[in-house]
Amino acid sequence: MGMYRRRSIAKKQVEIPERVFEVRAAFQEALLGWFRAHQRDLPWRRTKDPYGIWISEIMLQQTQVATVVPYYERFLARFPTVRALAEAPLEDVLALWAGLGYYSRARNLHKAAQEIVKNYNGQFPEEYEAVLGLPGVGRYTVGAILSIAYNRRVPLLDGNVMRLLTRVFAVRGDPRYGRVHELLWAVAEALIPERNAGDFNQSLMELGALVCIPDAPRCRACPLDSLCLARQLDIQTELPERAKGPDAEYVEGVSAVIVRGDTLLIARRFPEGLWGGLWEFPRGTRVPEETLAEAARRAVRETVGCEAEIGSEVARVKHGIAHRRITLHAFEGRILSGDPKPLAYQSVQWTTLEEMDRYPLSSPQARIVLALRPRQPTSRQLELGL
Ligand code: ADE
Repeated sequence: MGMYRRRSIAKKQVEIPERVFEVRAAFQEALLGWFRAHQRDLPWRRTKDPYGIWISEIMLQQTQVATVVPYYERFLARFPTVRALAEAPLEDVLALWAGLGYYSRARNLHKAAQEIVKNYNGQFPEEYEAVLGLPGVGRYTVGAILSIAYNRRVPLLDGNVMRLLTRVFAVRGDPRYGRVHELLWAVAEALIPERNAGDFNQSLMELGALVCIPDAPRCRACPLDSLCLARQLDIQTELPERAKGPDAEYVEGVSAVIVRGDTLLIARRFPEGLWGGLWEFPRGTRVPEETLAEAARRAVRETVGCEAEIGSEVARVKHGIAHRRITLHAFEGRILSGDPKPLAYQSVQWTTLEEMDRYPLSSPQARIVLALRPRQPTSRQLELGL
């Protein structure tokens, strides 16, 4: 098969398979037709305002559509314009974000809104490079905003689109990295029609989310079924391929829930890095020669400068960061000597369980709080008078 060379958005020179150009028109027509009939009715699809589209795309990056909808509506109601967002205190933005996770997204939105006010008089920029220069905005987000708001022929690639394109064009190799990744950017760009770039890009994502799904793709419901190479070769469940990553590393974290009367001790992380600026129960990581309780006692000593007595385990939460599998053990405890000082934190605070909602927490820490709250009795228990 001949290969086609052209300049594109790809960061490396890549050769787009000729097949992409052969099926392009049929691909566009089938996909757009399907999208008109099957797209979900989502609040951000009712606007062409780049501001609203930007907010929705940032929220959707690490979060499911169903979770995002109410957050998006509250956010737009409270901050309807770039200027409203820029002028709001960061604390208010974080509070509306509470529960969505990955809080650096909210901090970047706030910072970017202030830059738009300062540099572009509050008007959302239209230049590719200007949008790409905003905090928290990468190649994916620029493509989404410029294509959806202005129908500009700018491509986008997310996990769903990568999966769909590796299957339709039977692309071998891990699409998240290197040459294969750049090839897919170039393919995503080459496929965009002259008109309807926004609907086209959204239809790629929508088909990836609803039909070309990871384990058991719904090929019989797929408008691209007849032109999908993976389907012809019957390798659709083998794609996309995955490079073997580093083996998982198992880590045990500890957090001390220090109780004094009806208050609990929480501490605020420094603004930088993972979970920057969020609150947590003083935490540490167990080293091989110590017990979990010893690790909790050491965490209290090293992070808030107190000697503590550690009691029983009150919650256990599993979570992952990159290739690390973390089990976080929460122990109750009380202070034996010393006053809490923010040694490894920005600040410390005593608060009641009821008032914890005012403090943005990372999601593992929020799960500890849930475990601490008394459960609502079930209707069956009420019936039995329990
Ligand atoms: N995922 C993220 N943004 C999306 C959009 N605009 N349409 C469909 N899926 C998406």
